Amino acid sequence: MQTPVIVTFANQKGGVGKTTLCVTFANYLVTKGARVVVIDCDFQHSIVKCRKSDLKKYGIDVVPYDVLSSDSTNRQEMLTLMEKLHNDPSIEVALIDSPGHLKAEGLPPLFVNSDIIVVPFHYDPRTVPSTVSFLYFLDKLRNAMGGRMKTKLIIIPNLSDSRVGTRAELLEWEKKRESLSVYGDVTAKIPRRADMERFSTIAALDMQNSIVAPVFDRIYATIFDSTEPRRESMLSGIQLYENVNPKRSKKAKGKSGSDPPKDTGSNNQEQ
Ligand SMILES: Nc1ncnc2c1ncn2[C@@H]1O[C@H](COP(=O)(O)OP(=O)(O)OP(=O)(O)O)[C@@H](O)[C@H]1O
Ligand SMILES: [Mg+2]
Repeated sequence: MQTPVIVTFANQKGGVGKTTLCVTFANYLVTKGARVVVIDCDFQHSIVKCRKSDLKKYGIDVVPYDVLSSDSTNRQEMLTLMEKLHNDPSIEVALIDSPGHLKAEGLPPLFVNSDIIVVPFHYDPRTVPSTVSFLYFLDKLRNAMGGRMKTKLIIIPNLSDSRVGTRAELLEWEKKRESLSVYGDVTAKIPRRADMERFSTIAALDMQNSIVAPVFDRIYATIFDSTEPRRESMLSGIQLYENVNPKRSKKAKGKSGSDPPKDTGSNNQEQ
């Protein structure tokens, strides 16, 4: 893909992990040496707030990427933002977090001008139909654009907990996976993990890597047509998990090499 690549995290269903995956993907890209900007287009502005509190907490002024905000209810503002991002050679990937509804007028231009839309969801009786409606909405938008919308869809089953769900439900969800793949690439599952709830925009940028890498490697390959890092990343100090969590890191090393420790509850090997 030609950079800058615009990647939007979206689903009309709330609470599926749009914001979490947007920030953890930004952190992952930093570990790959990519130049990233994050634009928070949700009126809740959780990422902007997170950056503010990170700056206060860690007291540093050199940041690994900028976090900006934009108003998705303003159609013209979104169009201007898209144009600006597409013409900024200092950025390789612009990550956009969007709200959990479709009411904002700026969302159609955002979706149409994104190179990739990442759609997280999780398997439950309310979230799956709502996600299908959202994918259907994007399909209608694509048809209405008559071939001008080239956006790729990447659909991520997030918050996966293999202990939840009856046998019949698990089979049903496997079928759903097939029906969702009509709309885009359905990735491996991202497990539900406590470590995913404690993300930061500054510290321990590698913290969730072992949980998200199988899925993020695939998005990365879609963006850059390669799995090779863009350039050597210079993570040090608070940006590294082992420095922020020395005790837990030491324990994990004793047990299983250099990976961050894994919660014991659920299985990290799910595909
Ligand atoms: N893989 C995961 N493991 C554990 N917790 C997760 C995971 N992904 C997301 N969460 C948690 O789920 C909740 C919802 O996530 P998040 O806020 O990212 O969703 P969202 O889609 O952005 O919601 P909204 O539509 O309200 O903006 C948060 O508490 C987050 O910490
Ligand atoms: Mg959110």
